[in-house]
Amino acid sequence: MSLYSEKVMEHFRNPKNVGTIENADGIGEVGNAKCGDIMKIYLKIENNIVSDVKFETFGCGSAIASSSMATELIMGKPLGEVLQLTNKAVTEALGGLPAHKLHCSVLAEEAIRAAVKDYYDKNGIEYDHSQFPDCPCCEEHE
Ligand code: FES
Repeated sequence: MSLYSEKVMEHFRNPKNVGTIENADGIGEVGNAKCGDIMKIYLKIENNIVSDVKFETFGCGSAIASSSMATELIMGKPLGEVLQLTNKAVTEALGGLPAHKLHCSVLAEEAIRAAVKDYYDKNGIEYDHSQFPDCPCCEEHE
């Protein structure tokens, strides 16, 4: 069996939703201090629903495939559901990732959360801060 599933290879070779959104409603940027990879997610939100999402990822193939899959999973979803997206769900949708590449999918989860938080912050929307334990403003998390 090859190290990467066909889904991973497909999303790596032909990633969906690559790019930026002008006047995005929320932008989330996170990085992994160990590998140096960076992921940026742009959200357009209408009526509490993700009406558009794009990403820029400067990172490994697994990070690119994870971003691509994650954007597909949240497109058209209400923010409540978007915040439920876990790296496990992204990994499963990709048909799995090698253990030493699981952290790449964590970047996607964190970048999306950061973008939603940015949207809430910019619009003065109240939210439960415990929903953002991995807030990128906090240097302490892995
Ligand atoms: Fe860093 Fe994949 S090796 S995100």
